[in-house]
Amino acid sequence: MQVWKDYQVQNKDRFLEELLELLRIPSVSADSRFNPDVKNCAEAVKLRLQEAGAEKVEVCPTAGHPIVYGEKIIDPKLPTVLVYGHYDVQPADPLELWDSGPFEPVIKDEKIYARGSADDKGQFYMHVKAFETMSKTNTLPCNIKFMIEGEEEVGSANLGIFIKENKERLKADVVLISDTAMISLENPSLDTGLRGLSYMEVAVTGPNRDLHSGVYGGAVANPATILCKMIASMHDENNHITIPGFYDKVQDLSQAERDALNAAPFDEAEYKADLGVDELWGEKGYSTIERTGIRPTLEVNGIWGGYTGEGSKTVLPSKAFAKISMRLVPNQDWVEISQLFQAHFEKIAPKSVKVKVTTHHGGSPYVTPTDHIAFKAANEAIQATFGKAPIPMRGGGSIPIVALFEKELGLKTILMGFGLDSDNLHSPNEKYGLANFYKGIETIPYFHKYFAELSK
Ligand code: BES
Ligand code: MN
Ligand code: MN
Repeated sequence: MQVWKDYQVQNKDRFLEELLELLRIPSVSADSRFNPDVKNCAEAVKLRLQEAGAEKVEVCPTAGHPIVYGEKIIDPKLPTVLVYGHYDVQPADPLELWDSGPFEPVIKDEKIYARGSADDKGQFYMHVKAFETMSKTNTLPCNIKFMIEGEEEVGSANLGIFIKENKERLKADVVLISDTAMISLENPSLDTGLRGLSYMEVAVTGPNRDLHSGVYGGAVANPATILCKMIASMHDENNHITIPGFYDKVQDLSQAERDALNAAPFDEAEYKADLGVDELWGEKGYSTIERTGIRPTLEVNGIWGGYTGEGSKTVLPSKAFAKISMRLVPNQDWVEISQLFQAHFEKIAPKSVKVKVTTHHGGSPYVTPTDHIAFKAANEAIQATFGKAPIPMRGGGSIPIVALFEKELGLKTILMGFGLDSDNLHSPNEKYGLANFYKGIETIPYFHKYFAELSK
């Protein structure tokens, strides 16, 4: 569509300037010191939605961070797309590993470097600019609703309540999200699912106080050593997870489905070089694509205890801790998996220590129905602007609210992400390609066009 192209070419620089302005707001949801910034960010999103042509735009308060809602209903008889995204970001630390300030965006090698550039400000903002393109050129093919939240990176607990309380307002035909990755701009892909998540924390307590490691060491169990052994025992020699019942509900894919996934381009040498590792690791019998897409995993996110300050201190710590998460696949249930983890962790603990297990949060896995007209619309949109059909892929990450969209609103979700796995999400030097940003803005209007046409 030439009018879209012309509008986007004319406004290209402003689109980017506005994104950079959003990226300057440190909307870190996990850290309450940033609460005023999170609020400011919600207000900025509200303003941008209004300028783009949305109506009934509102910053909706919650028990936590606010949700920004806006809509443009051109005709109630036409289909409605609910666009979801998140304006909150992960903490930026460790700060010393950034080459430039996480909230002082810079453009280098055609990429925007800043926390949130890819996850998810740069991606949800493509939808705001795609909507602006359609609304300012009077070419909106269907109705659109926006729900941009501020707690995705901390589990979306309040969004779950919001959608239960706003079913009428959120009525739509499909949910559209750009918060995942593609293989590359040369090899566009479309995610057909997300993994679920179960996030736990464990505490192991030995003696009732820190002890002199010379006086007591050798006679009393060291909780740090015990915790390491317990964690190590959770993978066997084939890197299978040893928690009893963990795999019971895992849905195995047919050989044809596995072959289709493995047909995606993957360069192992490049992958290893990018990560600086000499060898890959993982569950025996599965490829890297499968290990990060269709298989469940268990990871230690952090482990601590005892003395970790400057210099040395000879101490046998009283306590040791770890944050452990598990990525889940269909049909694993995150509550059940959390319980299995807890029971197993308590069972394998030796009598020399006491353990405490708590659940942080979780979410269910999701699979996109590839026969849905919205999936076809996404396919055709990518075909239209990339000149190539997208490769279907499973996303390894989690967006827990997606399963709730289905459960509470009866809505399927299309995951049309434009990021790259190498964008350093949640890491120092997060980045987002300028080409990815503009390609997304170009592609999204076609989704709406084809979805409206296929809905007829
Ligand atoms: N955008 C990511 C999820 C993602 C990234 C999906 C890459 C697929 C590919 C999202 O913001 C995220 O980081 N989610 C968290 C879960 C949340 C409960 C903290 C995750 O996956 O760790
Ligand atoms: Mn995200
Ligand atoms: Mn994230």
